[in-house]
Amino acid sequence: MLVKHPELIYFDNGATTLKPQCVIDAVTDCYPEHTSNVPRGDYAIAATNDRLYDGTRKIFARMINCRPEEIAFVHNVTAALNQIVYGLAPELNEGDVILLTKAEHASNLLPWFRLAREKNLKIEYIETDSQANISVESFRKAMNEKVKAVSIAQVTNVLGSIQPVKEIAAIAHEYGAYVVIDGAQSVPHMKVDVKDLDCDFLGFSAHKMCGPDGVGILYGKKELMGKMMPVFMGGDMNARFASDTSILLKDAPVRFESGTPNIEGVIGAGAAAEYLMAVGLDEIHEYERQLRAYFIEKMKQLDNIEIYNPDNEYGPVSFNGKGVFAQDAAGWLASKDIAVRSGNHCAKILHEIIGTDQTIRASLYFYNTKEEVDRFVEAASQISLENAVGIFF
Ligand code: ALA
Repeated sequence: MLVKHPELIYFDNGATTLKPQCVIDAVTDCYPEHTSNVPRGDYAIAATNDRLYDGTRKIFARMINCRPEEIAFVHNVTAALNQIVYGLAPELNEGDVILLTKAEHASNLLPWFRLAREKNLKIEYIETDSQANISVESFRKAMNEKVKAVSIAQVTNVLGSIQPVKEIAAIAHEYGAYVVIDGAQSVPHMKVDVKDLDCDFLGFSAHKMCGPDGVGILYGKKELMGKMMPVFMGGDMNARFASDTSILLKDAPVRFESGTPNIEGVIGAGAAAEYLMAVGLDEIHEYERQLRAYFIEKMKQLDNIEIYNPDNEYGPVSFNGKGVFAQDAAGWLASKDIAVRSGNHCAKILHEIIGTDQTIRASLYFYNTKEEVDRFVEAASQISLENAVGIFF
């Protein structure tokens, strides 16, 4: 619950999540207690900041089962994906194929589109079903020797399709392709073990997992992080440079953290990760799965509603009021103290799968309740052209 708006039903967790007090405290304590840069200060409070900042790498390493040096802090999952794409660029040549899906968020498409234009790469799409699920068979069909990278969301942001990443990684690796995972909508909601999945790279954002804005987590296998070039060059990521323009970079992960990072954000992200692990990621996943099943069954009973992902077991419920523009319907829900997102949700080619680029997305998190779902469904049952337009006049 948002403390200052206890009446609000917050079902926009796919966009960002609410922050628990322990995260707020971790961030705000930084300012009066140990404001300083990292890792540059030779004094006690700077050492505290260094310890907390670097300690957060260990927390995330525990969360996703990797080594701390395989974790770099960037600004969001978009920055992580851009770094991965541009970091892989030297390995990619004209005619190489990048496999994506049409259900991806812009952040997992546009960096690839740009690189494809620059290097004459070919973008191909893995076939999905009507709710954006990839089957292992369709993935196998899409793979060939020309594919050099596969880049997909583990859980898609509009339809909540959970992709078989482990199987996909195993097949992709048979062909020597890199496997890049957008974990924005998966890591906050389920146990993600990068060793088990055997993905090469993973990106996710702290703000979608109860943490602060402006912190992205970039995971890469140690040997790949070690040879990847950083996109941003600047302070602290270099060991030395000289007037003849020679540069010696520091090792990963520091080489990906040029300039002053979001120090208090990273420390707050660590508090969020600890919080989620204490609640239990398996428990969070199961609770959300059951709540979603309850939600979808009730929504299915409404004649005025069309649902786009009724059979997916997980993630948001994406729907429209029949004959009602999504943003108008979202406005109607807002008038009932309900927060959702409407529109295309940055997944601007998903309409090629679902036939519309305007939906209402009601996305849950583990702090949502059946009572909130009941109130939501009651409000959704009243979505109509008359009601939705009526609130504006
Ligand atoms: N990527 C976020 C979303 O899907 C903002 O809404």
